[in-house]
Amino acid sequence: MSVPFASVETAFLPDAVGRPVRLRGWVLRSRSSGGILFVVLRDRSGSIQVTGKKDVLGPEAFAAAEHVQVEGAIAVEGTVATDPRAPGGREVRAQRIDVLDAGAPFPIFSDQTEEFRLDHRHLAIRSQEHVATFRVKAELLRAFRDFLDREGVLETTPPVLSGNAAEGGAEAFRFDYFGRPAYLSQTAQLYLEALLFPNERVYALTPSFRAEKSRTPRHLTEYLHLEVELAWCDLDGLMDFTERMIVAGAHAVADRRPAELKLLGRPPAELAALSAPFPRLSYAAAIDRLSAAGLPLRWGSDLGTAEERALTLEEKAPIFVTRYPRELKAFYMLPSADDPRTVEAADLLAPEGYGEIVGGSCRDTDLERLTHRLEENGVDPKEYDWYLDLRRHGNVPHAGFGLGVERVLRWLLRREHIRETTPFPRTPSRHTP
Ligand code: 4AD
Ligand code: MG
Repeated sequence: MSVPFASVETAFLPDAVGRPVRLRGWVLRSRSSGGILFVVLRDRSGSIQVTGKKDVLGPEAFAAAEHVQVEGAIAVEGTVATDPRAPGGREVRAQRIDVLDAGAPFPIFSDQTEEFRLDHRHLAIRSQEHVATFRVKAELLRAFRDFLDREGVLETTPPVLSGNAAEGGAEAFRFDYFGRPAYLSQTAQLYLEALLFPNERVYALTPSFRAEKSRTPRHLTEYLHLEVELAWCDLDGLMDFTERMIVAGAHAVADRRPAELKLLGRPPAELAALSAPFPRLSYAAAIDRLSAAGLPLRWGSDLGTAEERALTLEEKAPIFVTRYPRELKAFYMLPSADDPRTVEAADLLAPEGYGEIVGGSCRDTDLERLTHRLEENGVDPKEYDWYLDLRRHGNVPHAGFGLGVERVLRWLLRREHIRETTPFPRTPSRHTP
């Protein structure tokens, strides 16, 4: 029989029954009883039961196939049959099973500690939950890219290695660059602002790095950062854009990955129901709401995890918190025209207590004020000379935001910890495997 290799899903096509098929993949589980081997074979398209009889395969091939471990690799030739007892109602009756790699005993099984699984992450990522997460993440990134493309925003490729620490040095990873200091990027924003002038609307999807020793369920030291920078944009325009992008992402995932969402405990209908506009609340109003809820906050204090949680626990959609006190935010944010104590910033907080997922603002275009604010922060403006130069050549109003991809996924997929949204999580206590 010399049919070409096909994927598992083809065995479930309406006309597949009775036809010869060749499959290859990995063993999810197997057992044998009474001279019959039952293997569940997995490939990228799904899984199917394969049965092999000793008298058909021959005693030697049968014995070899019997010894294949969980996650061993095999190739199968056989015929598709219906079997109401098999998962999915179909099985492949094998005429031949070739062992590609019998495999060592697979070290991952249920009731191991989280620490053990993290140490064996390179193997643990073969689980159904991880695979579902990879697929949703890919779908979300595709949806965001499609959205940005439709909006005429150009994808660009800023560096992640730099001689400046963009948001101030404290949380940047610093290293030696041929005898000079260098940093891993915390944000591509300053480069995106430079790229904005020749392109008007730009975005970048790059890893960002934060050297914070925050051991929380929402902090990674390396995360995927989707950053957008738009010319001629004010704060309302920025929020409109942000919420449309989030809705496009949630709808695409609900539409194209419903099975994966269900597996992970998020009913797809909840994401399909998401719609813009999202509620908008000033920082001042947020403080009032918090003190009414028994969480008094002094004007000028940042919203912490508890505050963000209290503001969003009962919400079904994300909410924007706008116009933060200037001291809480970065030097480049535009002061509000009617209140110099606040800046034109908007953070998007996910509902159900998941916390900040997007941080955005209008950028200050005033050269003197920017220079002054750098000095106030103890930074020598000379270090930012190239950035300040942008304010000397065709300076126009613009705004942008940064979205934490894993933060968004943690909310969409209802994951307890952000590390479940990325295959090889980097946290203060772990940067291997
Ligand atoms: O709020 P942040 O620090 O904003 C900036 O870096 C801006 N320069 C972005 C811009 O305007 N272009 O970070 C943006 C987002 C946060 O809202 C959060 O979703 C995510 O990045 N983020 C993290 N995600 C995972 N782990 C961390 N340690 C994160 N820190 C920020
Ligand atoms: Mg922020």
